[in-house]
Amino acid sequence: MGKSCRCDGNRNGDPDGNPEKKNGEDSMSRVALVTGGTRGIGAAISIALKNAGYKVAANFAGNEEKAKAFEAETGIPVFKWDVSNYQACVDGIAAVEAALGPVEVLVNNAGITRDAMFHKMTPDQWNEVINTNLTGLFNMTHPVWTGMRDRSFGRVINISSINGQKGQMGQANYSAAKAGDIGFTKALAQEGAAKGITVNAICPGYIGTEMVRAIPEKVLNERIIPQIPVGRLGEPDEIARCVVFLASDRSEERRVGKECLR
Ligand code: CAA
Repeated sequence: MGKSCRCDGNRNGDPDGNPEKKNGEDSMSRVALVTGGTRGIGAAISIALKNAGYKVAANFAGNEEKAKAFEAETGIPVFKWDVSNYQACVDGIAAVEAALGPVEVLVNNAGITRDAMFHKMTPDQWNEVINTNLTGLFNMTHPVWTGMRDRSFGRVINISSINGQKGQMGQANYSAAKAGDIGFTKALAQEGAAKGITVNAICPGYIGTEMVRAIPEKVLNERIIPQIPVGRLGEPDEIARCVVFLASDRSEERRVGKECLR
């Protein structure tokens, strides 16, 4: 964990910045599906993958108006379903595959917060976060896994969190789910390795998205930002560049599977 990588993929998804496609590298025709892909970090990931040559589908669950605006602005098709519902994932993935082709790159980015000190946390706040942020990874990955195995190629990139590594007060639910994402990643990476499938987790710190900006201003300014070594929130693009690297065909040559980056 904490291993650094170069995250500067270019339009061909080539992390070396070589504009020539390598033998067997064909990111131009690969289909990438990004959950929670129309806002925040997910939107940056969808756009970066599109710019790297992938055919991208962006899933969203809630804000239809923003999703449609994103689709109109970027040309990336959007698909609505709730990742906490297994059958909805099966049906949604089938719709994506009918429109674009088999999903070869899956970015499990969708996540929610229901922050509360533990003594005030309700069972609903616990369950909603676990069902979306942890079970959502099972629900999304399971339906694409057999196809990836059959084609001997796949990239699964899970957006965990620094709070899954260090814990965070007010986030017993979120920290548990994000730590679970790391265990899921490490186990599945071992299963995928022999089948040409890499499974990685990225553990972002605090990134300047709506989710983070919803934190009470006093807590954000007095408790969180002073703890960040560079003294600022991260940018969604910084995470998106890492995703493009991990999605690239050649990331496997570097034996990156199952490492956590932050
Ligand atoms: N770090 C350090 N201290 C924190 C904190 C944090 N993240 N969150 C809360 N605290 C402190 C508060 O400063 C306060 O301390 P004092 O009593 O000394 O002032 C104490 O904990 C209690 O906080 P509140 O008075 O705000 O209590 P509350 O019951 O009204 O609200 C809360 C609790 C809902 C957890 C609210 O404090 C909150 O939203 N905190 C932010 C929690 C957080 O960090 N969430 C991360 C969201 S972003 C994310 O999850 C993305 C990612 O992957 C990094």
